[in-house]
Amino acid sequence: MNAVPWFDIKAVPKAELHVHVEGTLEPGMLLDFARRNDVAIPYKSMADVLAAYRFCDLQSFLEIYWAGLTVLRTERDFYELTLAYLSRVRQDNVVHAEIYITPSDHTERGVPFEAVMNGISAAYADARSRLDITGGMIPCVRRHKDVDEAFAAIEMARPWQGRILALGLGGPEKGYPPSPFVDVFAQARALGWKTTAHAGEEGPSDYVAEAIDRLHVDRIDHGVQCEADPELMRRIAEKDIPLTVCPLSNVALKVFPSLEEHNLRRLLRAGICVTINSDDPAYFGGHVNENFIRSTEALSLTEDEQLTLADNSLRAAFMDEDRRRSNRNVIGEMRPVGLTAGSPQ
Ligand code: ADE
Ligand code: ZN
Repeated sequence: MNAVPWFDIKAVPKAELHVHVEGTLEPGMLLDFARRNDVAIPYKSMADVLAAYRFCDLQSFLEIYWAGLTVLRTERDFYELTLAYLSRVRQDNVVHAEIYITPSDHTERGVPFEAVMNGISAAYADARSRLDITGGMIPCVRRHKDVDEAFAAIEMARPWQGRILALGLGGPEKGYPPSPFVDVFAQARALGWKTTAHAGEEGPSDYVAEAIDRLHVDRIDHGVQCEADPELMRRIAEKDIPLTVCPLSNVALKVFPSLEEHNLRRLLRAGICVTINSDDPAYFGGHVNENFIRSTEALSLTEDEQLTLADNSLRAAFMDEDRRRSNRNVIGEMRPVGLTAGSPQ
């Protein structure tokens, strides 16, 4: 029997740990920015944009996403984009958001990195004072490009050290293992940055093991393919390495045929610190609460499991300790007396 009273997931404080700023570009904004910046795009209307958003895998998505992000050109674009995202997820009771940016996706088009960082930083400053939401940026290096580009991205990001939470690794995964980036990640750690890497999204479980054992990451983005290796799963649980899982993204990119077949509940029940995130919400049909609600419906997650997923997001966040504690306490108070995280119901 389920002993926890029904609650609204909207009331539960949570952190979003895996969202690409470029993936928050809603179709309406994409059309507006294209017009404002005089950028040619292959869409005339909202219907054209939505018709293009059908993907068969990660690569087919990235091609559409890379075409979309070309409309982002100015500091104002990055400011408006980020503020719109932060305002939207604050309504989902996201109290802390960690935003991925891929510096080279912008600088290679001639957009100054200062425009990207100044725009996003200003949005965070305004959101902090107006909305009480915290967070920062995770620059992501591109795994399908050479390591020199990755070292250059770190150098570019260093002046914004105060706003940078971690180094990330992203891009097409199959055929691009993490290991060439060992020295890049060592350099980030030497700078005092946390690290995280996309691994085991559609690539093999070996890539997850490499990211842990060779890149020494603090978190794994996606990581769902670890299930193919039970020993690896046990290590992830034992070392308490969080996975930033993105259920709607995984279904949109055909990592799982349906949400009902997603493995997040099995990973959670294996004792792994699973968190729920949106990845690229403008492309995959929902922000973080939508991911919670749809996963709960599809996988019959208990209330206790939903609270654990939200609590995990705060546990795994690169955030201020007082803020982490006070928000975790709010979740603790939502659990009925006598029920601690993970207790059988
Ligand atoms: N960049 C944006 N979304 C991504 C994803 N799902 N995997 C890898 N790189 C990405
Ligand atoms: Zn991602």
